[in-house]
Amino acid sequence: MYLLRLLCLSFCLGFNPVWASEHDVAVATAHPLATQAGIEILQQGGNAFDAAVAVTAALAVVEPAGSGLGGGGFWLLHQAETNKDIMLDGREMAPGKASADMYLNKQGEFEQSRSLNGPLAAGIPGVPAGIVYLSKHYGKLPLKQSLAPAIRYALEGFAAGQHYTDMARFRLPVLKQYAASRQQFLKDGQVPSAGTIIKQPDLANTLNSIAEQGKAGFYQGEIAERLVQAVQQHGGIWTLDDLQRYEVKLRQPIKGHYQGYTITSATLPSSGGIVMVNALNQLSAFDLADTDITQKRHLVIEAMRRAYRDRSRFLGDADFVAIPDYLTSVDYGKQLSDTIDPVHATPSSDVADKAIEGEDTTHFSILDSQGNRVAATLSVNYPFGSGFVAQGTGVLLNDEMDDFSASSGAANVYGLVGNEANAIAPYKRPLSSMTPTFVENDDELLITGTPGGSRIISMVLLSVLDFVEGKTAQAIVAAPRYHHQYLPDEVQVESVGFSEQELNALKQRGHHINPLSRQYGDMHIIIQDKHNGTLSAASDPRGEGQATVTTLKK
Ligand code: DON
Repeated sequence: MYLLRLLCLSFCLGFNPVWASEHDVAVATAHPLATQAGIEILQQGGNAFDAAVAVTAALAVVEPAGSGLGGGGFWLLHQAETNKDIMLDGREMAPGKASADMYLNKQGEFEQSRSLNGPLAAGIPGVPAGIVYLSKHYGKLPLKQSLAPAIRYALEGFAAGQHYTDMARFRLPVLKQYAASRQQFLKDGQVPSAGTIIKQPDLANTLNSIAEQGKAGFYQGEIAERLVQAVQQHGGIWTLDDLQRYEVKLRQPIKGHYQGYTITSATLPSSGGIVMVNALNQLSAFDLADTDITQKRHLVIEAMRRAYRDRSRFLGDADFVAIPDYLTSVDYGKQLSDTIDPVHATPSSDVADKAIEGEDTTHFSILDSQGNRVAATLSVNYPFGSGFVAQGTGVLLNDEMDDFSASSGAANVYGLVGNEANAIAPYKRPLSSMTPTFVENDDELLITGTPGGSRIISMVLLSVLDFVEGKTAQAIVAAPRYHHQYLPDEVQVESVGFSEQELNALKQRGHHINPLSRQYGDMHIIIQDKHNGTLSAASDPRGEGQATVTTLKK
């Protein structure tokens, strides 16, 4: 399929592939200013990891609805020198005073507003620790230098785009509620018009504190004290000890194989890699290249159904609960694929009993001229997270606590139900769907990922299948998306890209089709031809991102 992509690059688009020089790099992110920050740092001699620090911090400033210093995420790394892959786990952690029933009312009912809005919804952030670790252990440049573009954006301001104003409108009631949030993100208590310059001097100050003191500049001292004071004043439960205790964790990524390609993806506390490899193992039993579109979609939906079923039944923070080790085995995939009816949908109730997850969060992909790579998916969870900015810090807090299972069977904001394995406990990390991923064989490499709540895993799965089929980077990010997450038992299809006839063909097989009123996801990918080094990169046409491939000046 590699040849197919090569031919397509040469002829479909009407140009010849550019032979890459050894100085070629690629950066694809959700915002042009973040992409520019990454390129700037590479141009200054930084490697992909320094660029990832710059991009993470820049996104925290210019895409506050999606990620930030008050949030968390996963950085999947490949270090060329050691040929090693590692996942940096900067996922939020439940505070020490958190408890399994903290979002239930006196009647034992789940009150979701409390796990979504305000500081009680916030886990202890991991992004500041993540960037410090990344810079110190993998980067070449001083942290101060990598953080410089973000500090500049925070001080000089950035122009609010359509995405910003849409998301701020969506979260207006909660943003209005807190003085510091109002001041930082709104204008006279209302959504600013597109083009308004958003300056964040307090955030610049916090970034400076991290640049100067490293991890202690956020998790201890003045910034930490301000964070804890503001959280407690508004009904939250953070303590200084919680902040001081926070550590990033190094995890071995999930590995799998599909059609001769090696998949490297996020591991727990993200469910992404496990669910995706589980689905790919099931699909290995079929020849997708040789089937018509309806048959292919049918099989992919059935694999999604079974893989997400296992997510809801088994998965949670592996530092707290035992996770079966067979979920990504080839044999188990075969057992599951044997239960797929080649023609008819299996109702989710029939696969039960062997008990799921708006648009925000952010993903970026980077490849440097040495072959170092980063796929990172970062989040504050819901758009603008909890909506709460801690006074005097500029830090917008996440609402990632909603990714826990607040009670058995209660769905989170993405409709995901879970169970004991993902119950809230002090210092535990909530189960995530974020799926930063590498896919490669001897010929080529894909770096992929996207935001999108529970649909992240199915989107990344579709991108892997399209890559293996030989599609170009542009075609992969633009492809129409469909999703099944076991419960609810329905196939969610995007508003664009599916004909009536195609949907009817799936209905006839017994699939319940839920046509969404919109499109979803914001995928940013890079493809490398390993033979000649040619790079192509693409940003999702659904978003406002920018993918840049460039040759660095010597
Ligand atoms: O970690 C997770 O799975 C979620 N907090 C991600 C949220 C997300 O992608 C929202 N955006 N669409």
